[in-house]
Amino acid sequence: MRWPAEAVWERVAPRLPGFTVEILPELDSTNTELMRRARAGRAEPVLLVAQRQTAGRGRLGRAWASAPGDSLTFSLGLPYAPAGWSGLSLAVGVAVAEALHPRIALKWPNDLWLDGRKLAGILVETASAAGAAPGAGRYAVVGIGINIAPRPAEGLSTPPASLRELWPEADAAAALDRIALPLVQALQGFEQHGFAPFQARYAARDALRERAVALSDGTAGTAHGVGDDGALLVHTAAGMKSVTSSEVSVRPVPPGSVAD
Ligand code: BTN
Repeated sequence: MRWPAEAVWERVAPRLPGFTVEILPELDSTNTELMRRARAGRAEPVLLVAQRQTAGRGRLGRAWASAPGDSLTFSLGLPYAPAGWSGLSLAVGVAVAEALHPRIALKWPNDLWLDGRKLAGILVETASAAGAAPGAGRYAVVGIGINIAPRPAEGLSTPPASLRELWPEADAAAALDRIALPLVQALQGFEQHGFAPFQARYAARDALRERAVALSDGTAGTAHGVGDDGALLVHTAAGMKSVTSSEVSVRPVPPGSVAD
């Protein structure tokens, strides 16, 4: 596989001065590595790919499993100063889904789905760049893991989806080539204008819209899209609830079952 490091650099560097692309054979986790670097005062813009991750991380403290060649695992780190952070991972999801295929849906807050199965996940973390002036913003690490080839379903209630179902010749390098620039553009758009410009684009791919959902905090109701801040709107027995907590997970409830 030939990684498009140079092509990505040529497209992105004019928008992101100081930008570099690194493709490493192995890391614990591309997010962990960029967070480590930021804490050590290295806060330059970088796109870091690991061909193999030995300790990939997902949201809510979960592990992210991947196999070399069968997944694209990378993080984009950059100094970042949006007015607010709410909705950032949704905007990233919009950009990645649009760059890859019209059939890819988004499941709040930051999963990419294909036909109700998980295709990709996003993990956004931030660090205060060591040595940065107060008020200078933070360092954002946007980690993305995409299943390229089918993965074993062990331990998962639903088998994961893979990009090859939509794009049979896809490999990790080709996927990165499509995603890198739109991702940077989306991050810059969000930094300037927030989530509002992504709201309709999110709605066009919202996998939960008008579906019965159950939240990990016990809330049950019907999902009614997302607000202009990226919050999930859930119509519950007690009225409309706006869910923003990144600690909450949400799942659709199959028709006919009781939401618990
Ligand atoms: C999730 O679905 O919970 C988020 C998964 C994010 C996985 C990616 S793979 C590249 C980057 N490095 C990590 O350790 N995690 C993210």
